[in-house]
Amino acid sequence: MCGIVGYVGADTALPVLTTGLENLEYRGYDSAGVALADGDVEVYKTAGEVDALEATLPETAEAHRGVGHTRWSTHGPPTDTNAHPHTDCTGEVAVVHNGIIDNYDALRRDLVAEGHDFESDTDTEVVPHLIESYLEDGLAPQAAIEETVARLEGSFALVVTIAGVPELFAIRRDSPLVLGHGVEATYLASDVTAFLEHTREVTYLPDDHLAVLDGAETTVYHDGQPVALDRETLEWEADAAEKGGYEHYMRKEIHEQPQALRQTISGRIDVDAGTVELGLDLSEEYLRSLEEIQIVAAGTSNYAGRYAAKLLEELADVRTTVSIASEYAFTGGRDPWRTLVIAVTQSGETADTLSAVRDAKRAGARTIAVTNTLGSTVTREVEESLFIRAGPEIGVAATKTFASQVTTLALLAVAIGREREALSTDRAVDVLEAIRSVPGAVQQVLDREPQVIEVATRHADADAFFFIGRALGEPVALEGALKLKEISYDHAEGFAAGELKHGPLALVTDQTPVLAILTPGSRPEETLRNVKEVGAREAPVIGATTRPDDARYLQERLDVPDVDVLSPMVTNVYWQLFAYHVADAKGRPIDKPRNLAKSVTVE
Ligand code: M6R
Repeated sequence: MCGIVGYVGADTALPVLTTGLENLEYRGYDSAGVALADGDVEVYKTAGEVDALEATLPETAEAHRGVGHTRWSTHGPPTDTNAHPHTDCTGEVAVVHNGIIDNYDALRRDLVAEGHDFESDTDTEVVPHLIESYLEDGLAPQAAIEETVARLEGSFALVVTIAGVPELFAIRRDSPLVLGHGVEATYLASDVTAFLEHTREVTYLPDDHLAVLDGAETTVYHDGQPVALDRETLEWEADAAEKGGYEHYMRKEIHEQPQALRQTISGRIDVDAGTVELGLDLSEEYLRSLEEIQIVAAGTSNYAGRYAAKLLEELADVRTTVSIASEYAFTGGRDPWRTLVIAVTQSGETADTLSAVRDAKRAGARTIAVTNTLGSTVTREVEESLFIRAGPEIGVAATKTFASQVTTLALLAVAIGREREALSTDRAVDVLEAIRSVPGAVQQVLDREPQVIEVATRHADADAFFFIGRALGEPVALEGALKLKEISYDHAEGFAAGELKHGPLALVTDQTPVLAILTPGSRPEETLRNVKEVGAREAPVIGATTRPDDARYLQERLDVPDVDVLSPMVTNVYWQLFAYHVADAKGRPIDKPRNLAKSVTVE
């Protein structure tokens, strides 16, 4: 939820930390701080965004070592005191932390009894005080940190700097940390976007490994022994994490969808043969014996999962259920091994989803993750990972990752359908042809953005917005409403179109636009009946359709290219643009909606 950046090297640390924090602000943004270490440790921290912190910082600082943190509060309100870094009684040990220390209460009580003074409401503050006690006992810094971590329960990524000690120390458990290898420098962050402009050579730190950073030299220890870890070269370009001329990341990411989808599909399909290769180690025998697929996911990923479930049932003929991750409890068939649990999570760090995966594993089910984030926690929890390859998504509102999730899961449905002989070659060829044309179809929708701007501006002051759809259009209706409410703060709801007459129709007036999906895969003929119902109540209907004749029932017709079962997903691009432009017309902070964060690492 929070963001961490660290640096040790030949350059001065401060500029690296401040730009790193700016790049990370999407992870949390209610307070921020840095510790600069050059002999002494100097801490600067404040409530508010990184801009507010920058106003308190010196223009230059000599330190070549330091850490920065941007926070999304879990323990204690966003105040100057609760901002990270936190220090011990002497001010010589400074710590930043992501995650939650479950047993902090007991540790704090013990430390207070020993005479330690605490300043903040945070769970984090126990860490510098524990390190302080072990240093006082005569332990060397590394040993003091190892002893401290041995006493912590919960999830954490911790970075520690100590006055007079030239190294920076970092350790993680169930919270991400990645090292970046530069020239005469080592970077460290909760997310590579913090240092992508400096290096693409990275090492993902595994759980319970301690990295000791000393400029270009970094040694990683596990159980007190040095270990060699592989380096990876990221393919993401440095400017992939910047706004590229758009006012908001969200709009940039909406427009990146054709490219993201090309990456998602690249090298995975043979359209003529009607086959898909995803590199998963799931045998034909296993797939044929499957009794059930269970998808677990939260928010937008859950809606991608609902879309996928319908595809898996149709194309792979396998019973598929979808659970909101926080509601999940394993209920497999007689043989858990024949239940495949698919965790859909762009970040790979969502605590609710991780917890569902652990529950499924305990029951003996097989697990795979569909994620955007290499090296994320979920990839270490599951047996197999399938990457959606959307590239970094910075805006809190998920956009391109939804498109890439749905497309990846559609590929998976075809792959499983072929293995189970549930899908004919002809039908597989049709679906893969549609998938191949999805990037172009999304581009056609993006090219119609001026029309969406006009419609969104016209309706920006509506009382409420309703999204309706059937079949594959139903999860898109839910996702359309989620997008609009989270960034515009307007009341928006998505419904299965047929449900309107069972209650929600009472809310419909001439002040409530209804956005309807009338495409292949969404039972347009039946949905048109519901469009007529709301039209009769004078609601302005904005219809996304492949059928020109629908225009007579619509106040506004948005043309959707026909891409078979992917047409509703392509329609969602209209809903993303609509949400963006309603929110923009209202001057909302689109990339950082209130109360939200990109990666929700608490249950
Ligand atoms: O990283 P995840 O895909 O697991 O995130 C799940 C949700 O928190 C996320 O999809 C959220 O609903 C979106 N940011 C909404 O736009």
